[in-house]
Amino acid sequence: MRKLLKIVAELTRAMRLGLRPDGADLRQAAQHYPNDAALEAWIKNPPAFKPGTKMPPWEGVIEESEYPALIAYVKELGAKK
Ligand code: HEM
Repeated sequence: MRKLLKIVAELTRAMRLGLRPDGADLRQAAQHYPNDAALEAWIKNPPAFKPGTKMPPWEGVIEESEYPALIAYVKELGAKK
């Protein structure tokens, strides 16, 4: 899990610096979803919500048991702002 959060942290940093124009700045992400379940649903299958998005689906890639910590981390990014 620690490794996954590190990857997300690095991706976020790269996106913020403009090094990953295909990605998104996640600092406002938590505000864009009404609750944790909605945020998790987006991460699992973004194209279901936004056809054509560059964000890949993570369902089956990220372990089910890892979602709570991942969601908490995404929300934490918003809190830092
Ligand atoms: C586990 C890793 C990842 C997580 C947790 C994650 C999470 C998210 C979240 C929560 C949003 C919504 C942001 C908002 O509404 O403000 C988002 C958007 C987005 N993500 Fe990811 N993401 C991940 C990996 C990636 C990767 C690897 C890419 C690119 C290859 C990517 C590309 C995007 C794009 C382009 C958007 C904007 C959606 C759009 O307008 O099409 N994401 N991501």
